[in-house]
Amino acid sequence: MSLIQEIKRRRTFAIISHPDAGKTTLTEKLLLFGGAIQVAGAVKSNKITKTATSDWMEIERQRGISVATSVMGFEYKDLKINILDTPGHQDFAEDTFRTLTAVDSVIVVIDVAKGVEPQTEKLVKVCRMRKTPIIVFINKLDRPGKDGFELLDEIEQKLDLRVTPLSWPINMGPKFKGVYNIFEQSLYLFEANKQRVEKGVSFDDINNPFLVQYIGDDAATLREEISLIKGVYPEFEVEEYLKGEVCPVFFGSALNNFGVKELLDCFIHIAPTPVGRDSEERHVDPEEEAFTGFVFKIHANMDPNHRDRIAFVRVVSGKFERNKPYHHMRLNRKIKFSNPTAFMAQKKSIVDEMFPGDIVGLYDAGNFKIGDTLTEGELLRYKGIPSFSPELFRYVENADPMKSKQLAKGLDQLTDEGVAQLFTGKATGRKIIGTVGALQFEVIQHRLLHEYAASCRFEHITLYKTAWITSNNKVMLEDFKARKSSYIALDKEGRDVFLADSPYSLQTAMEKYPDIRFHFTSEF
Ligand code: G4P
Repeated sequence: MSLIQEIKRRRTFAIISHPDAGKTTLTEKLLLFGGAIQVAGAVKSNKITKTATSDWMEIERQRGISVATSVMGFEYKDLKINILDTPGHQDFAEDTFRTLTAVDSVIVVIDVAKGVEPQTEKLVKVCRMRKTPIIVFINKLDRPGKDGFELLDEIEQKLDLRVTPLSWPINMGPKFKGVYNIFEQSLYLFEANKQRVEKGVSFDDINNPFLVQYIGDDAATLREEISLIKGVYPEFEVEEYLKGEVCPVFFGSALNNFGVKELLDCFIHIAPTPVGRDSEERHVDPEEEAFTGFVFKIHANMDPNHRDRIAFVRVVSGKFERNKPYHHMRLNRKIKFSNPTAFMAQKKSIVDEMFPGDIVGLYDAGNFKIGDTLTEGELLRYKGIPSFSPELFRYVENADPMKSKQLAKGLDQLTDEGVAQLFTGKATGRKIIGTVGALQFEVIQHRLLHEYAASCRFEHITLYKTAWITSNNKVMLEDFKARKSSYIALDKEGRDVFLADSPYSLQTAMEKYPDIRFHFTSEF
């Protein structure tokens, strides 16, 4: 198969949702359709459960699961579908943001009763910034929930998305009868707990009197609602969806396998094939012959006897080949990979070649950082994996003087993996860890001990936010750094960072030093 044919048959996407909306259930049903798994319940959730927030063993266990479910590839109707898993827990939101840089589209799952929840808002915001095409799946129609039109309004307002329904529910909860598929113009009748989905009944004309035979008195309401939809919402245009301007909406029940096949069939029809990426130097198209890719996720090995990690690389262009030397841009040297790994549902296997849209797992003994670029020799760096200004901070102190080297190495590697960010106070030399969630502090302490035999202690620091600072006005920048010397730190790359201890000090610094730019993401 040619490179172009390989690219055309790939779809790489993520399912995102607020925890409990049904992301895991939907993933599982999609894998069932793809024949990648045989029984329901085979995919374990990659979420740190709410009840286990301070249970280290639970975190470890779940971390193991999340390696297995990081990428779930499967074949469906001659297509290669790659689902990238994202952690549901909000403390790991940054992992999810990074995963979103490696996909070409997303499916957002919304619980019909809860509507748009905070985590959905945050994640969709990132997708909107990146103009990632979005399909919305409203789940749990077998339960009572919000009215369909109300939900569409809520999505438009809270998520700032233009929507157009491609299916429409006929009642919900105990009276749920099914959906009318506007995309296919056919009726699908609901039966709870059905393992197999019947073919829909074609209804090109919703006014066809036979509709009553299927859904009784609800036919009149359905006709009214469909005509209202046609009047209010724009007709679906694939081009608009691909530009991230309009989101098609489906209704169903993942648990009951209802509406999932239609979602998948529409998805493979409209979802984008692998798209190129911007590097700092130029735009790279997937069809280019030379391989390029970037690391968006690093996962530590579960086995403490093997310190190696898996770096997940999104293939952007060309063909990745086993044992071929590739140029590691940041280290400026060639590296060969003898065991590149592909992930098919829960199985891992060594592969000889990978194509754009694929995710290849590379065993790594410490060469990779999040955001690293691999090429065949061309000098280019992919951008778009920023670190965000952390929200929680602690001083980290060595608790075992005999193990200071281990601690330094552990902190270095864990922060390369993107678990947290590390800053060093310029005046004091003290190390500061910044995270987006409280759970990371426990993860760090636990992993330092188990993987690096180092122990650390966290100490309180009063810090509101960090901002990277740059300026063309060298004098002003130096003046600021001298005056605020105890509030200046360096990040791992040696860039200056202002440690603001309160919103007020940040505000006044910004006002008093107008030529200094304060950046809240690491890409500027
Ligand atoms: P998440 O990954 O987004 O966090 O959600 P997950 O799929 O784990 O689903 C959360 C809960 O919602 C699960 O119930 C799941 O069974 C249920 N669920 C998913 N889809 C539907 C649906 O279409 N209808 C109904 N009624 N429920 C649905 P749980 O009790 O928390 O877990 P479990 O014991 O069933 O696994």
